[in-house]
Amino acid sequence: MPLVSMRQLLDEAAKGGYGVGAFNVNDMEQIQAIMGAAKETKSPVIIQASRGARSFAQDRYLFHLILAAAELNPEIPIAMHQDHGNSFETCKSAIELGYTSVMMDGSLKEDGKTPASFEENVAVTKKVVDYAHERGVTVEGEIGVLGGIEDGHGAGGTGLEHVTDPDQAVEFAEKTGVDALAIAIGTSHGAYKFTKKPDGSVLKMDVLIAIHKRLPNTHLVMHGSSSVPRDLQDIINKYGGKLKETWGVPVEEIQLGIRNGVRKINVDTDNRLAMTGAIRKVLWDTPEKFDPRDYLKPAREAMQKVVALRMTQFGQAGHAGDYQAVSIAEIAKGYKSGALSTKPLVAR
Ligand code: G3H
Ligand code: 13P
Ligand code: ZN
Repeated sequence: MPLVSMRQLLDEAAKGGYGVGAFNVNDMEQIQAIMGAAKETKSPVIIQASRGARSFAQDRYLFHLILAAAELNPEIPIAMHQDHGNSFETCKSAIELGYTSVMMDGSLKEDGKTPASFEENVAVTKKVVDYAHERGVTVEGEIGVLGGIEDGHGAGGTGLEHVTDPDQAVEFAEKTGVDALAIAIGTSHGAYKFTKKPDGSVLKMDVLIAIHKRLPNTHLVMHGSSSVPRDLQDIINKYGGKLKETWGVPVEEIQLGIRNGVRKINVDTDNRLAMTGAIRKVLWDTPEKFDPRDYLKPAREAMQKVVALRMTQFGQAGHAGDYQAVSIAEIAKGYKSGALSTKPLVAR
């Protein structure tokens, strides 16, 4: 199957009532781990690259590696997505490369750190929507700001400082016409999200549910959704790592989100933990080894295991064969004719 539009993939997920994991990649092993899991569980999937990933791997390497994934797995719908685009130019460059979806994260200014005003966010997101939709490319926007800082991206803080206001979410969706809406509900990027198992005082599922009630047909996106499992923390610490005790987003809370309009779930940290734990174990147990394949293969297998589990938990497993890819040119026509609506249904 050629790469598919993320809009098509999320519309299908909404029809089927499931969520789709969006997994970050930086290299070949991570892409192979995701595809191994997608094949194993028969799942449609979103492969996403941050600006940091695009610069680390170099654009064309990463792009062609993802194309190879599509070429080798014709039965799997794959959307190629720019994660946390910080400007119109970043999103434009991803679209020019051939990404089928972009996130314009206008919740922060271009520095990726300073919260932007609502008006600035609307203006830059709308500009990206107009440019992207003309080319059949999906757009995710963000309203509210996540906590934490990952590779320089994020406003810092606990995640509770800029929780999304449901009224603003409605206004933002109406003014921008985004295909998917990321909201802030107290999560942060990275491993250190919560200091104990999160309850409703820090993980605002009530806000998510309120937004879904107001925007019942909008595809919601949960960022910072790694669960940071204890067993993965323990492996790292057992083999010489130094992680402080920490909690992520429990899978059952994500599943509650999926029952309330969440269609895209961003996961990066859990895969980083799985790979690093596997590499540490090999180097600790067999310090005489130096062939990168000796530790990259277990790392890839460890990540595949986590991704396959998430695909099953999010409900996307078994849905790869439900539909055929609509070409990006057809999707562009759909936006133009209005067949693909960009006006959210609003419950007042
Ligand atoms: O946005 C957060 C993702 O985990 C990507 O992180 O910017 O370090 O590649 P990164
Ligand atoms: P985690 O750090 O929780 O994996 O979140 C990843 C993310 O939101 C990428 O955009
Ligand atoms: Zn994110």
